[in-house]
Amino acid sequence: MKKILVTGGLGYIGSHTVVALQEAGFEVVIVDNLSNSSINVLEGITNITSTSPIFERLDLRVKQDVVDFFKRHTDIEGIIHFAASKAVGESVEKPLLYYENNLNTLIYLLQECMAHSIHNFIFSSSCTVYGEPDKLPITENAAVKEAISPYGNTKQISEEIILDTCQVSEIKSIALRYFNPIGAHHSAEIGELPVGVPQNLVPFITQTAAGLRDTLSIFGNDYPTPDGSCIRDYIHVMDLAHAHVVALQRLLSVKNTANYEIFNVGTGRGSSVLEVVNAFEKVTGEKLNYKIVDRRPGDVVSVYADTTKANTTLGWKAERSMEEALASAWKWEQKIRNL
Ligand code: NAD
Ligand code: UFG
Repeated sequence: MKKILVTGGLGYIGSHTVVALQEAGFEVVIVDNLSNSSINVLEGITNITSTSPIFERLDLRVKQDVVDFFKRHTDIEGIIHFAASKAVGESVEKPLLYYENNLNTLIYLLQECMAHSIHNFIFSSSCTVYGEPDKLPITENAAVKEAISPYGNTKQISEEIILDTCQVSEIKSIALRYFNPIGAHHSAEIGELPVGVPQNLVPFITQTAAGLRDTLSIFGNDYPTPDGSCIRDYIHVMDLAHAHVVALQRLLSVKNTANYEIFNVGTGRGSSVLEVVNAFEKVTGEKLNYKIVDRRPGDVVSVYADTTKANTTLGWKAERSMEEALASAWKWEQKIRNL
């Protein structure tokens, strides 16, 4: 069994990826400092796969702890690096926290990869690097636009750090540019656990339906889109999780054609905010209390992926529908609220 380090493996995308990795036959070691996750996630993962991943509570910002970790685990063959801070608004308020957490952790991990000849590195990037795209759907060749937040900037800089490192070492890396992950594992053993008031659309929808929030605010209906609300590419988190397994297998079997590769991970379909709201009501039978409010600063109008490269080169394709993702998100919300 190949041993894979998953940083941030108790977080939203990380936990679903750990399930997919274990189901694909990998042994998983998770490191997480629990800054945005709960230790209970470990139990959820174990309930699904009947295998408890190795877990170490560790803050990747502490260089000596990272160094010591790799002394204890000498047989790691690949790393999937999810650990980061991800709240766009908070990153504007606390830029240094974001640069420190998202860049230092990456640098320390890459240094250890070089020191211990760990050559396979998967990185969580984001479609935020494209900004407001000139052309839709977006291919990986589209220009990287000036970042609109420190968070977005950390993803751009991280990609550059990895590229530069791959050019002077034996490290091979794949950066996956996620579009909008939503939903939960169908078992409702794991799902998204936002701290405080959710910033993202789907957790806000499910919390509104569950009665935790009064009203969903839809940020703008005067955008140049068919119904006036913004368009995004919502991808089921289990499809996204599976993309990591496929990307890792590509590196482990040395099928990569360059030392640093980038793939869009989305469905290729754009859905408006109003379409998501309508789909949620239809699939769950819940009526949502919502109102149209002003645009949210920093939102781009429309973003969805051209997934040709991932489909043809990785042999990966999103298989689950948005309706399935919304139903799973609702099942998860009902479970954690005892509804
Ligand atoms: P998340 O916050 O749920 O998971 C991140 C995990 O990393 C958390 O469990 C947190 O406790 C841990 N962590 C953070 N800093 C750490 C540190 N210094 N040391 C150890 N652990 C640390 O976020 P997520 O939604 O699962 O996102 C995972 C990755 O995907 C992030 O890099 C994020 O930027 C990226 N991403 C997310 C989205 C999205 O919409 N969720 C979109 C694009 C990219
Ligand atoms: N929206 C609402 N009401 C809400 C929340 C969101 O109308 O309460 C709208 C937003 O205006 C946007 C859409 O729903 O049009 C999606 O918003 P999210 O916040 O769910 O997602 P974003 O596309 O804004 O952001 C996501 C990630 C970021 C990442 C960005 C680009 O959350 O981390 O994609 O990759 F930077």
